[in-house]
Amino acid sequence: MKVAVIGSGIMGSGIAEVFAINGNSVILYDKYEEALKKGLDNIKWSLEKLHEKGKLNEEPSTIMGKITPTRQLGEFYDIDLVIEAVPEDFNLKAQVFRELEKKVGTNTIIATNTSSLPITELSTALEKKDRFLGLHFFNPPVLMGLVEVIKGNYTSDQVFERGIEIVKGIKKEPIPVRKDVIGFVVNRILFRVFTSACRLVSGGKYTIREVDSTAKYTLGFPMGIFELLDYTGIDTNLFISREVKKRGFDFDCPLLEELYSRGQLGTKAKRGFYDWSNGRPRIEK
Ligand code: 3HC
Repeated sequence: MKVAVIGSGIMGSGIAEVFAINGNSVILYDKYEEALKKGLDNIKWSLEKLHEKGKLNEEPSTIMGKITPTRQLGEFYDIDLVIEAVPEDFNLKAQVFRELEKKVGTNTIIATNTSSLPITELSTALEKKDRFLGLHFFNPPVLMGLVEVIKGNYTSDQVFERGIEIVKGIKKEPIPVRKDVIGFVVNRILFRVFTSACRLVSGGKYTIREVDSTAKYTLGFPMGIFELLDYTGIDTNLFISREVKKRGFDFDCPLLEELYSRGQLGTKAKRGFYDWSNGRPRIEK
């Protein structure tokens, strides 16, 4: 299959990597040269890690060879699937869809990796809405087993079923989502967890480490809640919370605004709720 991924941030590059590992040819687009380079570096690092552990069927260089980086939003007539993975901003995504629609062939499936925005609402940017669906990956895409496949009001049954097959084809477990609501299934739960955790520390009764220690060692989360916010990105989570709050959903964490204004964007900036300059934070039991 020929796939194009739009946006080479953490999610876009990870999605491109997953498709390439599974034998697909991938075009990875980003408007910015630095972002594209960073995305390719992330993929190289990750492929080397997986190779060291014997988890790849091919050499990392062979897999890298399946990924073509570009800064030109080219003619995508022969592309089977385009996945948009730009920041969580309705207007930005809508603009990408409008441009994409002019470049793709009539049979190209257009998917969005939106974390939260209803597919039906996003599809208002498109003229041909029946080939549009959500394919929502989790960070880091190469290690996380699930992908939500979301049907908007206009997504055809055929495209929805094809989405499920595509996810199986990249060896992930599809979660079919027919109720097209803010946050779908996983993030609808997760945003409430984030909001509760933020309220516990904003009230001053608990520290970030206490909440994370509980999440990790009592609730059995693989990471602390604030650790996860850092890991997925303070900016990413802030942009999501702004978009969903506009639509009346309660994902509220004023601490995100504070960190963002100080440039503490999480793991990628080596500072967020935690200091990551010496690696992953130690969360005590
Ligand atoms: N590629 C390859 N290897 C990777 C990697 C990647 N992208 N990321 C981490 N690794 C490697 C690490 O380097 C480490 O290798 P080592 O054994 O050689 O040191 C190994 O994986 C294990 O990593 P860690 O020791 O750091 O820690 P964990 O055992 O905790 O595993 C994790 C890491 C899989 C990320 C795990 O902590 C986890 O599942 N965390 C929760 C992630 C999660 O919930 N994601 C969803 C977030 S919500 C979301 O994405 C939605 C969006 O819409 C916002």
